[in-house]
Amino acid sequence: MAGTFHHYFEGWQKYADNAAGRPPRPLLVDALQLISARDAAIDLGAGALTDSQYLLEQGFASVTALDSAPVAQATADTFPATRFRYAISTFEAFAFPTAAYDVVNAQYALPFIEPAHFPRVFAAIRASLKPGGLLVGQLFGDRDTWAGSPGMNFHTETSARALLADLTLLRFDVEDDANSKTMSGRPKHWHAFHIIARR
Ligand SMILES: C[S@@+](CC[C@H](N)C(=O)[O-])C[C@H]1O[C@@H](n2cnc3c(N)ncnc32)[C@H](O)[C@@H]1O
Repeated sequence: MAGTFHHYFEGWQKYADNAAGRPPRPLLVDALQLISARDAAIDLGAGALTDSQYLLEQGFASVTALDSAPVAQATADTFPATRFRYAISTFEAFAFPTAAYDVVNAQYALPFIEPAHFPRVFAAIRASLKPGGLLVGQLFGDRDTWAGSPGMNFHTETSARALLADLTLLRFDVEDDANSKTMSGRPKHWHAFHIIARR
């Protein structure tokens, strides 16, 4: 399956081990400049928990890290149990609370929602934002190297914008780079939409 995500995939544990100790994702850092509320945040596909740690450091009273596997359990064990919940569940099975989060951080996470479940799960994610809350993260575009990979969802720019139509777009940066690389250094065409949207 050359060219698909699974051709590149070395496992989420290895991905998280490689990402441990990295700085928070720049889009999250930028997003926190745009919101003063620091009540509750959720980190979707939290991986190495670098963004979860940043949310805790930035003073969020409650941070939930959601991931299908406990790939950063040792790091999670160092976080304050009163403010941090490590929720091990797929996006598809998670019961998203309604109007609960000031920030939904979804860095390189939403594309891994099963396409058949995507409309329902994306609607639940959107509804989990408080009014005024921010959705921060990426959708992948139809020109991405991995487009068509089983289990992943991809969007044209038009369909991505349509998904966000009832949110206020604060950022919608199009990355369309045919000569880029994956985190592990393999050549890849990245076609991604980098999004900050307010409910
Ligand atoms: C590409 S990594 C991104 C990690 C981190 N957010 C970052 O920016 O580096 C995707 C993460 O989502 C998790 N994941 C993938 N599919 C998932 C699903 N269907 N439900 C929940 N988590 C999932 C993986 O275990 C992995 O930690």
